[in-house]
Amino acid sequence: MSYRPLALVTGASSGIGAAYAKLLAHEGHDLWLVARRGDRLHALAGELASLGAAARVDVRDLSHPEDLIALSDSIRSEPGLEVLVHNAGFGVRGEVGEADSVKLLSMATVHVDATIALTSAAVPAMRERGRGAIVVVASIAGRLVGSGSATYCATKAFQISYTRSLAREVSWKGVSVQALCPGYTRTEFHDTPEYAHWNRDSVPRWLWTTAQEVAEASWKRRKREVCVPGWGNRLVWWLAAVPMISWFREQFRRRKQGR
Ligand SMILES: NC(=O)c1ccc[n+]([C@@H]2O[C@H](COP(=O)([O-])OP(=O)(O)OC[C@H]3O[C@@H](n4cnc5c(N)ncnc54)[C@H](OP(=O)(O)O)[C@@H]3O)[C@@H](O)[C@H]2O)c1
Repeated sequence: MSYRPLALVTGASSGIGAAYAKLLAHEGHDLWLVARRGDRLHALAGELASLGAAARVDVRDLSHPEDLIALSDSIRSEPGLEVLVHNAGFGVRGEVGEADSVKLLSMATVHVDATIALTSAAVPAMRERGRGAIVVVASIAGRLVGSGSATYCATKAFQISYTRSLAREVSWKGVSVQALCPGYTRTEFHDTPEYAHWNRDSVPRWLWTTAQEVAEASWKRRKREVCVPGWGNRLVWWLAAVPMISWFREQFRRRKQGR
């Protein structure tokens, strides 16, 4: 039996995480699947088995510090881990003071604390071995400033900044590190009550990508510190650096809300 390197994917129960797990299985990896919905993870593990990949299911809520610590400890005791994709995440809408602050803090734990904890646990063995890949799924939102999603934008900006710094620390030791920054992606992300009154059709079709496209773009360019899938999103990424564009965007949003 040939050797299959081990890859851990958080948020593997749907969307980008599930697509990434399938891609890695196709690429010859065994998988370690993490999320809260165990039934989904077991169904995916069955699918991966048909691709010849063994999959371990680990049901964890990464907004709970005790689960985060337990998962970090398991990673430390698994020196063979070759790939870490920290993809779990979600959005909370609403202006500061109006959005549910308990949900905001859970989101910050999954985006910020989990990024620190899981990479800190995975890096030492990868650095020692001189080989490995880390992908942190941030968002193009981390490059933007937007009222109505202050905590989401800020926690995604943290992921980009942290991951890029980590890349400078370990890439010269053979470990590739990438901040993956998708734009609008067709997944379950927008299916929550948070987005019930949000119209997907308000976003031009050329800005949407699929989870599979996102995973493929990321893995193909895994040695790149930042990956923004889709030409439309790359355009937004560069325009976001122009202050006038942010100003116009905000004016447009306020006018739409009648403010
Ligand atoms: N879709 C987009 O437009 C878009 C754009 C830019 C960036 N992103 C980012 O892409 C990543 C993946 O999102 P997606 O679009 O694939 O959405 P999705 O289909 O809703 O998937 C989110 C995944 O995160 C997991 N998750 C959420 N909270 C968790 C928690 N507390 N503990 C463990 N796992 C948790 C979910 O699993 P369980 O519910 O089973 O726990 C699910 O597997 C996120 O980080 C998101 O911010 C998405």
